[in-house]
Amino acid sequence: MKICVLPGDGIGPEIMEQALRVLEALRGDGFNFEVETALIGGSAVDATGTPYPEATSKAAKAADAILLGAVGGPKWDTLPREQRPERGLLAIRKELNLFANLRPAILYPELANASTLKPEVVAGLDILIVRELTGDIYFGQPRGVREENGERVGFNTMVYSESEIRRIGKVAFEAARKRGKKLCSVDKMNVLEATQLWRDVMIEISADYPDVELSHMLVDNAAMQLVRAPKQFDVMVTGNMFGDILSDEASMLTGSIGMLPSASLDANNKGLYEPSHGSAPDIAGKGLANPLATILSAAMMLRYTFNLEAQALRIENAVKKVLAAGYRTGDIYEAGTRQVGTREMGDAVIAAL
Ligand code: NAI
Ligand code: MG
Repeated sequence: MKICVLPGDGIGPEIMEQALRVLEALRGDGFNFEVETALIGGSAVDATGTPYPEATSKAAKAADAILLGAVGGPKWDTLPREQRPERGLLAIRKELNLFANLRPAILYPELANASTLKPEVVAGLDILIVRELTGDIYFGQPRGVREENGERVGFNTMVYSESEIRRIGKVAFEAARKRGKKLCSVDKMNVLEATQLWRDVMIEISADYPDVELSHMLVDNAAMQLVRAPKQFDVMVTGNMFGDILSDEASMLTGSIGMLPSASLDANNKGLYEPSHGSAPDIAGKGLANPLATILSAAMMLRYTFNLEAQALRIENAVKKVLAAGYRTGDIYEAGTRQVGTREMGDAVIAAL
């Protein structure tokens, strides 16, 4: 199994080191892999002048899965848009056609106080948002700003083809089948025709998944329900723009950014796995960053690309054990727990494995 590792910038290399140590500890347990490391983001700009160099593109294409740290930082904020580190992320997602973005939001019981919501509303929360990532109003044509009747008019176009909806729908139904067998599709069919088609196609696909209960919700209501009673959801599926907003909303129900993994998959389950957080320049290089989001991203990689459910669960259970034993990095620290650094957290997970 070939893994392309892209540590990136800021805390990226520190958290990646721990994720790789955890994978190393699993080696042999039905799991063997080789790693090719490459540059992305600001560190790639510094070395080659571009955030997504040709050598990185080659390594990413040759791999079965990509594990990424984070990119960006103040050092590169003044560069022209084309050279900014974030461009590297957009380029790799687009080049590899990673259309399915999976963002779990799990509230570990030990971290219940990290949420801004009342414990009874969020305790035991475990939901998965499936966001379409390569279509919708972010990519639709025509787009732009033009002069009309003496004033400027800005416009974008929401477009979804049946095949685009069908492929993200299948990913969501498959994910729901592996979890609680409940899928809520989010749209705005009362106003937007493109999302009426979205709803129609979801209903068509559901015929192939009689074991999954499909429901529908308008996006404005979904935004309300996520903060009112988030535990009613299991898997949610939605388009690029609604998913952008709802997945950030859902992740913050847990309150702990250092804990949240993500996956972006193509049609063959090749995937890019990365923590949901950024490069945290404020704590970079200090050994303080929480590596758990990256370690949990590696677990998602084992589950979705390599179909190693047992090994994925081993990592997730090890993380639960470590939290239960009181280990905390600064971002999730509370009085009475044991504050550790990045490497010690990695050690604890490996010991729990
Ligand atoms: P951020 O997620 O990097 O940091 C926000 C806050 O959370 C900071 O106080 C940081 O210290 C803390 N934090 C984040 N991850 C943590 C971890 N693993 N352990 C402990 N604390 C953690 O977001 P921010 O500050 O808005 O962006 C910083 C840079 O990261 C920017 O250049 C931004 O463009 C980039 N970024 C990159 C992303 C990516 O690579 N996918 C995503 C979001 C931002
Ligand atoms: Mg966003």
